[in-house]
Amino acid sequence: MFDKFYLNARKPKGVGGKLILARMNKFEHARLAEWGLDHLAQNLNTAEKRMVMDVGCGGGANIERLLTRCPSATVFGLDYSPVSVEKSLKHNKAAVKAERCIVKQGDVTDLPFGDNEFDLITAFETVYFWKPIQTAFSEVFRVLKPGGAFFICNASGAKPWSPDSRSELLDMTVYDKAALKNLLSSAGFKKVDVHTASESGWICAIAIK
Ligand SMILES: C[S@@+](CC[C@H](N)C(=O)[O-])C[C@H]1O[C@@H](n2cnc3c(N)ncnc32)[C@H](O)[C@@H]1O
Repeated sequence: MFDKFYLNARKPKGVGGKLILARMNKFEHARLAEWGLDHLAQNLNTAEKRMVMDVGCGGGANIERLLTRCPSATVFGLDYSPVSVEKSLKHNKAAVKAERCIVKQGDVTDLPFGDNEFDLITAFETVYFWKPIQTAFSEVFRVLKPGGAFFICNASGAKPWSPDSRSELLDMTVYDKAALKNLLSSAGFKKVDVHTASESGWICAIAIK
């Protein structure tokens, strides 16, 4: 039963999916996201970005953070789970109404956008599930403008990690600093910086097209 519940981390579904998204929004991912976004703001002028997208947007709390931190931007959310799309739309109802926020259902390996559209694309706690990862990173690269930034933020990766029964069940891959650098460089990103907080195991990457 618990196994079935945790599968919602990979693709939220039904009542269990709604519950896990509410938990992610309120508790589990909030501190990590603020840590990552503070680091991003120290390295990039996030306030000037106009076309921003959060991929694997889950319950939409990070779309809300991006709406605040990028006040001139239209913020898109994308997720392959209909439950995540519904929750993100509900969570950002006012911004959707004001046409500052658009949430779409789609898979990161086949992004429903043209080339060179975005200034900033973020991915919080989601790249573990992207398969094939090279196709996903190439798609992000394609839709970013030249000079645009891809920001990845994960709870796991800074500390040595080995698969356990839950990660096997979720079919998730935890990428460490070297793996992220290699994958992002192979996708074409010309500048890649990976930052870790070893005490917490948190990791984030900024990759520039
Ligand atoms: C663990 S949740 C994280 C949600 C949110 N980013 C957060 O930090 O709270 C992972 C999310 O990524 C989405 N996801 C996983 N693989 C995806 C893919 N290939 N394309 C689009 N979304 C994906 C899942 O549906 C889920 O909503």
